[in-house]
Amino acid sequence: MELELSPEERGLLAGDLGPGVRKAMEIVVALGQIYGARRLVSVSSVQVAGVSYRNLGEAGLDFLRRWADQSARVRVPTTLNPAGMDLQAWQKLGFAESFAHRQLAVIEAYRRLGVHATCTCTPYLVGNVPCLGEHVAWAESSAVSYANSVLGARTNREGGPSALAAAIIGRTAAYGLHLDENRRAALRVVVRCPVRTLSDFGALGYLVGKAARNRVLYFVGLEEACSETALKALGASMAASGAVALYHVAGVTPEAGQPDILAPGCETLIVDDLCPAYAALNSDAHQIDLVWFGCPHASLEEIAEVVRLLGGRQAKAALWITTAREVREQAEAAGLVSAVEASGGRVIADMCAVVAPMQELGFRTVATPSAKGAAYLPSHAGLLARYGTVEQCVEAAVRGGW
Ligand code: F3S
Repeated sequence: MELELSPEERGLLAGDLGPGVRKAMEIVVALGQIYGARRLVSVSSVQVAGVSYRNLGEAGLDFLRRWADQSARVRVPTTLNPAGMDLQAWQKLGFAESFAHRQLAVIEAYRRLGVHATCTCTPYLVGNVPCLGEHVAWAESSAVSYANSVLGARTNREGGPSALAAAIIGRTAAYGLHLDENRRAALRVVVRCPVRTLSDFGALGYLVGKAARNRVLYFVGLEEACSETALKALGASMAASGAVALYHVAGVTPEAGQPDILAPGCETLIVDDLCPAYAALNSDAHQIDLVWFGCPHASLEEIAEVVRLLGGRQAKAALWITTAREVREQAEAAGLVSAVEASGGRVIADMCAVVAPMQELGFRTVATPSAKGAAYLPSHAGLLARYGTVEQCVEAAVRGGW
């Protein structure tokens, strides 16, 4: 089956709007051909990943600059993933000037392309909130999972260049999770153990993700406990351990009630114990250098919860809460930033510890209630991780140990 392009799309591919737009069309069309798409579909928003200079390096920065030099500009609202540092407070946090200048150059290149430098992995907390059934092109696995599963929007797991290409032409190829038939569940997950805390949701996601092998999931037995924060943790964890981009929760998520939501041949997985996930995500580190909240980026409620649990006590370990700048501003207005700082912690905007040069900042061990963070920090940032509840992590910050 051929990928059919409209006359306008054929013109974009022929270079009618210049080489930058032609390059974007070439990327989207190539993906469409690889995955057997029959048409392109308009997208209402894009989330772009690939921001930290630590990952992009000079080659990635050059690539972005060259695209911007070719007059490519995004034509739909486009938000950006976290960077490798707080774009304003990097000096106070001890980031090297050499890194900071290159990171700021990356942000400038994205700005030239018309991307809104939100620098967050939770664009849905700062106004990029697609509706049920809306087609979008998002990168960032946790955000993709949230958009598909919790909001009912439609996106594949885009890579950095493919998301940016979709933003520049305002379209993506209609394959995968853009199509009804691929949104049905191939694995039904029956949860038989208590799942109460945020870290329980992360632990569940870690285990299920390992078994999921990319499949669409349908959860039974979670109805009671599912806050949006819990779903954020569940989705991020499954995305990290098993590349899960869409899950349904009976009685909770918007597409779960559809009559044909289970695909023919759907298998069943029973989960009755979360301990293996806690064991897999914990090292034996005792001294804790850093306690990290906000993976995915924290909501105002999550920041307030850390403040409540700190109760004005001093932290011995470094305590970071990462969040979107806009959420940080709301937290500042609510007195939460000063409360965290009074305990010796920091509310940090724009960044993700997984893509930051953490060892250069002197960190070796980290405690976090994020399963994605605990899974990625050892492999991506070279840190030993401890994984537990928000309460355990706050206590670890106060004691400086686990
Ligand atoms: Fe976000 Fe980084 Fe965690 S991008 S989901 S804070 S690993």
